[in-house]
Amino acid sequence: MYILGIESSCDDTSVALLKCSPKGHIIISEKTISQIDIHKKYGGVVPEIAGRLHAEKIVPLIEAVLDGQPKPDAIAVTSGPGLVTGLLVGTTAAQTLSYATGIPLVGTNHIEGHIHSVELAPDGAIGKPIADFPALCLVVSGGHTELILTKKHGDYQILGSTKDDAAGECFDKVAKLLDLPYPGGPQISKLAGTGNPAAIGFPRPMINEKINFSAKGGPAFGWSFAGLKTAALYWLRDNSVILSETKDPLNLTNARDSSTPLRFAQNDKTKTNLTINDFAASIEQAIVDVLVVKTLRATEAYKPKTVILAGGVAANKKLRLTLGDKLKRLALTSYLLPATSYAMDNGAMIAAAGYYHAVQKKFTPWSELAVDPNWKIGDP
Ligand code: KG4
Ligand code: ZN
Repeated sequence: MYILGIESSCDDTSVALLKCSPKGHIIISEKTISQIDIHKKYGGVVPEIAGRLHAEKIVPLIEAVLDGQPKPDAIAVTSGPGLVTGLLVGTTAAQTLSYATGIPLVGTNHIEGHIHSVELAPDGAIGKPIADFPALCLVVSGGHTELILTKKHGDYQILGSTKDDAAGECFDKVAKLLDLPYPGGPQISKLAGTGNPAAIGFPRPMINEKINFSAKGGPAFGWSFAGLKTAALYWLRDNSVILSETKDPLNLTNARDSSTPLRFAQNDKTKTNLTINDFAASIEQAIVDVLVVKTLRATEAYKPKTVILAGGVAANKKLRLTLGDKLKRLALTSYLLPATSYAMDNGAMIAAAGYYHAVQKKFTPWSELAVDPNWKIGDP
């Protein structure tokens, strides 16, 4: 079955054609245009600009992906959650295509897409479907931090989520405090690679939260990242870090005019010998610790056969390795991760998620497809 996937919920316009079967999926054709360079100037995604850029790119991208390819059997399009300006562009394009060609539509949940990103293989290889259920999914992105239990394809229960900022948002906001460009997660992660993660004892919010395992509806696992961001802000207000020429993966030493006092190295602060790398490694460690601890507790409580890590923050090496390492000690059958190139938003993951709805003929007529910027996975 050929599935066309369309994603435009945030700052990537992405379209992919997949050949899907119960044995696995092959990405036949895919194209993504990132808007990051434009939004960088504003320090984050500007919804109105995002919508306009999606509108400029979506039709040429669909044409390029379908050029010379077989007619899709279904169109999967992200219809929520996400920025309404972007969702409207993707769904309108998909609706128009469905109306004009008669190809049926699947309104697809963006988070469900991220979960299925683990089924994608780069370079024309076959990506293996998620096979062993129940699966526990940690989805961590710029807008979401959720633990989700899935007992079969299409069936989801949210076990916990963040009470305020998402983990990716925390990475991005802390990076902004360091004057690093958006999105800051990858930058913090690069700096952290040569830093000491134990240098600064940042708080681990809610790490000792009592989880009521006999609660009606099951135990709830939560996070809070806003306090961690504030702790980072206060630390940088009161202390200075130094740039190290020998540990400078972002080339910050050359990029800055040495006569300009850096916000994080101003003179009236307590001088430390800590590098910006130590600071980044310490904040990264705090974020990873709270994500991993809650995921392990949920793993012990629900005994899933598979644990899935997905979402943009799943590109973080420390998180990938730490979770994998800890899970090895529990007798699990599998730990699934997206290829780093498919951790961030992409149309292929939307096609993979849509496939399972298409095989069950769970389509939405083009005239009835609506966007839901707050669509919670598991809700109809
Ligand atoms: O899933 P995604 O592409 O978009 C959303 O749906 O939000 O995730 C983007 C998020 C950003 O917050 C970005 O900083 C974060 O993923 N991210 C990372 C890394 N790569 C991307 N965070 C930490 N370490 C990384 N290597
Ligand atoms: Zn996403």
